[in-house]
Amino acid sequence: MSTPATENRQILLAERPTGPLAPEHFAATTAPVPEPGPGEVLCRTILLSIDPANRAWMQGRTYRDQIGSGEVMSGFALAEVVAGDGPAPGTVVLIDGGWQEYAVVPAAEARVVTPRGPLNHQLSVLGITGLTAYFGLVEVARPQAGETVLVSAAAGATGSVVVQLARTLGCRVVGIAGSDAKLAFLREELGADAAVSHRSPTLREDLKAACPDGVDVYFDNVGGPLLSHALTRMNVHGRIACCGVVSAYDRADPEPGPRAVPGTVVVKRLRMEGFLLDDFAARWPEAEARLAAWVASGDVRVFEDVYDGLDRAPAALIGLLAGDNVGKRIVRVGPDPA
Ligand SMILES: NC(=O)c1ccc[n+]([C@@H]2O[C@H](COP(=O)([O-])OP(=O)(O)OC[C@H]3O[C@@H](n4cnc5c(N)ncnc54)[C@H](OP(=O)(O)O)[C@@H]3O)[C@@H](O)[C@H]2O)c1
Repeated sequence: MSTPATENRQILLAERPTGPLAPEHFAATTAPVPEPGPGEVLCRTILLSIDPANRAWMQGRTYRDQIGSGEVMSGFALAEVVAGDGPAPGTVVLIDGGWQEYAVVPAAEARVVTPRGPLNHQLSVLGITGLTAYFGLVEVARPQAGETVLVSAAAGATGSVVVQLARTLGCRVVGIAGSDAKLAFLREELGADAAVSHRSPTLREDLKAACPDGVDVYFDNVGGPLLSHALTRMNVHGRIACCGVVSAYDRADPEPGPRAVPGTVVVKRLRMEGFLLDDFAARWPEAEARLAAWVASGDVRVFEDVYDGLDRAPAALIGLLAGDNVGKRIVRVGPDPA
């Protein structure tokens, strides 16, 4: 267990962005380390999860409160309990603690984590990322062996796990990403059968060539024009797992929804289903065990993209939205517990 410092380094959302996120939207500050009250715990942040959703929460159209100007930037973190009325000091917990070195949270909302292997895996393949990939693919999309699975943002955190799970389940997998290096990564490191650039001027033709038998499952991390393209390739009774809309988070004028909805959905009898990881909270241990087994067998490899230091969190998020990450982006704020 660590002894708390007296000062708490924090990153604030200085000003809500109206267009693309930039460094001037954030400000670093220092506050006293807070005291936990009844039913609360004081936690020391170890690793921050950098998620596209961090940007979406600034917009005010999501499943949680909008982040206000001048507030500590919101974000999930792995942290160590230091003091308070909850799990014992030294316990590792997943918290909605924000971008700061120390956070006080309700003890009931501190989810105890039992690390399997390196702690960072609890944010990537065995945490938010891997669980989202698992439930979105296995429970929502339900692919069958031999089917074609198309994945957007395929070289990112969630996508890189989806590609490997779909391949492990015996599917033909086509990944979409935004650079030549990522397309090579999809084919050579993740084992995708084909890879397509969403920046290609011939995207429509490229998708057709990459999916000659159509698409049975589209795992949609992106929304926007890519969803329109995917809809044209879907097979009858195809499933679209709507995981996120990263194409819309970092702009003032998101693209309208695809014109093919509902016409194509009706004609092809598609199932489009959105989901949130929290919907499956009671089943996280079961999924974590399956993912851990796949990691142990080598069927699923772990790709993480770690920045060092709380002050680099703004750059980590801005870069993520621009697509400069491969695998799960994490910021290390402090050392693992002793
Ligand atoms: N439903 C849930 O419970 C849940 C939970 C976690 C995450 N999510 C969602 O899952 C999605 C992926 O999240 P993640 O954490 O795994 O992030 P990520 O994929 O690691 O990072 C985002 C990636 O999106 C791609 N991208 C950005 N703008 C794009 C655009 N306009 N068109 C196409 N691709 C674009 C970039 O890759 P390229 O270089 O390839 O463009 C970037 O690397 C997000 O939509 C997120 O909100 C949902």
